[in-house]
Amino acid sequence: MNAQGKSGHSLGVLILAAGQGTRMVSALPKVLHPIGGRPMISYLLRLANALKPSGIGLVVGHHEELVRKEVSESAKAWGLTRPVTFIRQKEQTGSGAAVLEALPFLRKFQTALVTCGDSPLLTFDTVYSLLNGHAKDKAQVTLLTARMPNPKGYGRIVRSPLGEVLRIVEESQATAKEAGISEVNSGTYCFETALLVEALKQLKPQGPKREQYLTDCLEIIQRKGGRAAAYLAPGHEEILGINTRLHLAQAERVLNRRTLERLMLSGATATDPAHTYVDADVEVGQDSLLLPGTILRGSTKIGRQCRIGPNAYIENSSVGNECSISFSQVADSRILEKCSVGPFSNIRPGSVIGPRAKVGNFSEVKASKIGFGSKVPHLSYVGDAEVAEDVNIGAGTITCNYDGVEKHKTIIEAKAFIGSNVNLVAPVKVGKGATIGAGSTITEDVPEGALALARAQQVNKLRKS
Ligand code: UD1
Ligand code: CA
Repeated sequence: MNAQGKSGHSLGVLILAAGQGTRMVSALPKVLHPIGGRPMISYLLRLANALKPSGIGLVVGHHEELVRKEVSESAKAWGLTRPVTFIRQKEQTGSGAAVLEALPFLRKFQTALVTCGDSPLLTFDTVYSLLNGHAKDKAQVTLLTARMPNPKGYGRIVRSPLGEVLRIVEESQATAKEAGISEVNSGTYCFETALLVEALKQLKPQGPKREQYLTDCLEIIQRKGGRAAAYLAPGHEEILGINTRLHLAQAERVLNRRTLERLMLSGATATDPAHTYVDADVEVGQDSLLLPGTILRGSTKIGRQCRIGPNAYIENSSVGNECSISFSQVADSRILEKCSVGPFSNIRPGSVIGPRAKVGNFSEVKASKIGFGSKVPHLSYVGDAEVAEDVNIGAGTITCNYDGVEKHKTIIEAKAFIGSNVNLVAPVKVGKGATIGAGSTITEDVPEGALALARAQQVNKLRKS
């Protein structure tokens, strides 16, 4: 879909993100706070990109270097296909002042869609309808508004007795009657650029912080003979502007629900969506089951017919078809098909498990490969190891991979049988089909097929009574 309008008018999208976000009380710029596993600003940029405009501008200011870096480095990962023009607002003197800085960018387009970097829940459909409404109404400015049960903190929409939009009044300047209005300004607007340019030049400092409010443009445009219209969003949820961490938590919840709805409609089951937490880009295959306490983060992909949870934390990992992961943590790893992980396993970064492997009760695996059908069922630590297929690692076995200075590798070849409570002092290699007796401390390579015993022989001393 292309949102340029049927007449081929050019569209520029401008996202305001220069504000400090004082109310977040954070060293991190507000728009970089993550929601659903990605910085807030990525949602606005993705939405802008989906509108296929002629240009996307991002006004940056407070900690602009951090915002620029994050956007430049992650643009591809966020799926952005269009370039982003950064516009610098040196001093943050209001949303109107921010747009004023962007005039050289905006002037190139007939229509300007201005939105705020702190509204990550806005949907494509709503913004698309706003643009369409704007074109159809032939208005010079069209606001996206919503009815809020609790409008606190938002600019209120003042309408005439006939229902025409007159102006936006910010809360700090609203009379008691105006404060009672439940229709609010979303912070997203469509402007005919030529009139916006004229209006911006007339903005005066307002409010307790003497800021130039973009919202004042509405009245100025009308004074100049322009027409103002409003498009009422289908609900109030999506226009949530994030000013505090309380809003952040609210947005996280909404996004989580949306993600789970997407997954459930594509064939996954979440038995209790309110207690299942899934980042926005996570994929879950058909007929997989997410049990309560499941947390899926980042770029995680779960295959088909898996059983995840209860209480599983999986981050930036892929899980093949028909796996089961319960009461466990998996990070930056690949679990191949038909594996069983948990309960109480910790799969640390750089691991590849399976297919058909088992990592069980209280076992930790770090930067290791566990081969086809191999088992680490109980109380083991396997670090920096390559374990081939059909290996059995007995309870309590430890790879001693660290000599206090460097990490070393353990190699266990196919069909080896490691007895319980074995220490494998790396670097060390256990040959194909070898057996290691329980309680051994192995410091030298074990040849193929050998039985290795490295423990003190049992002595039974009979005591005289
Ligand atoms: C703003 C609107 C309000 C609306 C609400 C919706 C104004 C004056 N008020 O209020 O009517 O209901 O959004 O969420 O616009 N920004 C800059 N440079 C600045 C100041 C702000 O780029 O100098 C950016 C911020 O980064 C933010 C956006 O503009 O993305 C809005 O600023 P914010 O301070 O959050 O305004 P609100 O008080 O929420
Ligand atoms: Ca805001």
